[in-house]
Amino acid sequence: MCGIVGYTGGQQAAPVLLSGLTRLEYRGYDSAGLAVRNGEADTVVVKAEGKLKNLSEKVDGGHALKGLCGIGHTRWATHGAANERNAHPHASADHNVIAVHNGIIENYVEIKEKLTHKGYEFSSDTDTEAVVNLIDYYYKKYKVGPIDAIAKTLVRVRGSYALAIMFKEYPGEIYVARKDSPMIIGTTGDETFVASDVPAILNYTRQVYYIGNLEMARLTPGHAEFYDLNGDIIEKPLTKIEWNAEAAEKQGYEHFMIKEIHEQPKAIEDTMKAYVKMGDDGLSTIDFSEAGLTKEILADVSQIHIVACGSASHVGYVAQYVIEDLARIPVRVEMASEFRYRKPILDPKGLVVVISQSGETADTLEGLREAKAQGIRTVAIVNVKGSSIAREADHVVYTYAGPEIAVATTKAYSCQLIASYLLAITCAETKGRLDAGQVSDLLMEMGTIPGKIQTILEDKERVQRFATGFAAMHDAFFIGRSIDYAICMEGSLKLKEVSYIHSEAYAAGELKHGTISLVEEGTLMIGVLTQSNVYEKTLSNMQEVKSRGGFLMGLTTAGNYTVEDTADVTFYVPKTDEHFAASLAVVPLQLLGYYSAVARGEDVDKPRNLAKSVTVE
Ligand code: AGP
Repeated sequence: MCGIVGYTGGQQAAPVLLSGLTRLEYRGYDSAGLAVRNGEADTVVVKAEGKLKNLSEKVDGGHALKGLCGIGHTRWATHGAANERNAHPHASADHNVIAVHNGIIENYVEIKEKLTHKGYEFSSDTDTEAVVNLIDYYYKKYKVGPIDAIAKTLVRVRGSYALAIMFKEYPGEIYVARKDSPMIIGTTGDETFVASDVPAILNYTRQVYYIGNLEMARLTPGHAEFYDLNGDIIEKPLTKIEWNAEAAEKQGYEHFMIKEIHEQPKAIEDTMKAYVKMGDDGLSTIDFSEAGLTKEILADVSQIHIVACGSASHVGYVAQYVIEDLARIPVRVEMASEFRYRKPILDPKGLVVVISQSGETADTLEGLREAKAQGIRTVAIVNVKGSSIAREADHVVYTYAGPEIAVATTKAYSCQLIASYLLAITCAETKGRLDAGQVSDLLMEMGTIPGKIQTILEDKERVQRFATGFAAMHDAFFIGRSIDYAICMEGSLKLKEVSYIHSEAYAAGELKHGTISLVEEGTLMIGVLTQSNVYEKTLSNMQEVKSRGGFLMGLTTAGNYTVEDTADVTFYVPKTDEHFAASLAVVPLQLLGYYSAVARGEDVDKPRNLAKSVTVE
């Protein structure tokens, strides 16, 4: 949801800002802009509608803009159309204050009204311009410095923001503030960077500060000074980012999505390595001590609510089946955007598990806060270290997927599955439903997942041929039961979000209660059949579709060859314990989404209307 970058140091700022924005374009890409200042001269603002390359062309890759200090933005429109007028940076009329913003200012209308009465004029439809002018207003009214003017503004605004601000009277300096929108600050010793996400600055530094909620900072070349809302200085530790810039590059792959699909075996291994240990007795065990999640804590859990959005919630549906089956603890999966508004009734001995790749998804963060407000213990399964969710949850189980750049998640989803299997097994053990030997056997089986995914990837051309043949289709339906239904949800989302082919996931038995009326000659129906107890049932539901002219693709486990009597085409994944089937079956469906989008010539890594990290509600 918008990417911001800032730079002050000894290099020309514009190329640095553009290079950072390129790595943040996954966060939004409907317009972009730069504000660069050459010493004491007036700041030059340049904006362009559309993708970043339009802005880059306009400023000759940054070479047309001179200056050692600047801020940049790539936008995912919330308030106001996606055009140049609404593109950031926004400036007060006299260019006293110029800023870029990620987030939403909820009370911008009332701020605008107040400022209009004071004589301010607005030239965009954005909420951001209200903040810019409010900072300018306090700065001038109280004749205070930038930090005090920003602090007064933050007290007045409601919503979420990561702001990078330049003041006319403070050349070479950038001021930043943050609440519920991600922001990191990097330094090299004589240069300072600010960005929405780490990849934007990894080419320059791996030393970062994490700025907290309702905190501000003053950035000068090589130095960052942090303040709380009272204007008092606060100390922050420098943290070293463990992965390097190459991890966030395509490394020869055509798109990040296909690169990340191929990274799944390694990402799963890394996630397992963090928590699975070999005991002296030769048995594998799970060690959640990194998360502070002891067996004593889990032994007492009466129910689990899993709160997440999009693909992360699809992991939740898989986890629901696995936890309930292995541990017999009731699990409810909650769409985070609905969770807190329905005033959830939570058992004090319950556990709320939030799942998020970015750790910044606004709805998930608010769901976490709702649980905490009710005094319920919270566990976060998160990929991004230092993210808001990671900081606020009681316990954090990190996934080790590394940076995920493609908007469509693949490797983070797969690592979230692994983390939830580990949670399910631990709960089952603490509830006395699995003994040490059974736990070890399940972990050994999980250890084979990376190799089995590799086998599926080696046969990716078959999926590619199928996807290319069907790329012109208008609709696709995915049906399955139990875990297979959860797999369908993710398969369907992968297909629609990158290829724009309309698709729906249905519980196989539910199809005939209405949706089957959409089936006509040639409609693609994908049946997922990895669960033996519902195999025959789903097969019957596929047969019902075939009788009505549907074209059937079956996705099942090696050995289930009777599918071929019904399906027109069948894809097989290697055998595994059925609790872990999603980890394998999702891979051909990720490939199906990817290759369909490629065949249709879509922008795979940056699908229209989407953003990687959804930091607004
Ligand atoms: C899936 O491909 C999407 N990118 C989206 O559904 C995503 O999973 C969702 O927005 C949640 O994001 P998070 O994991 O960062 O919280």
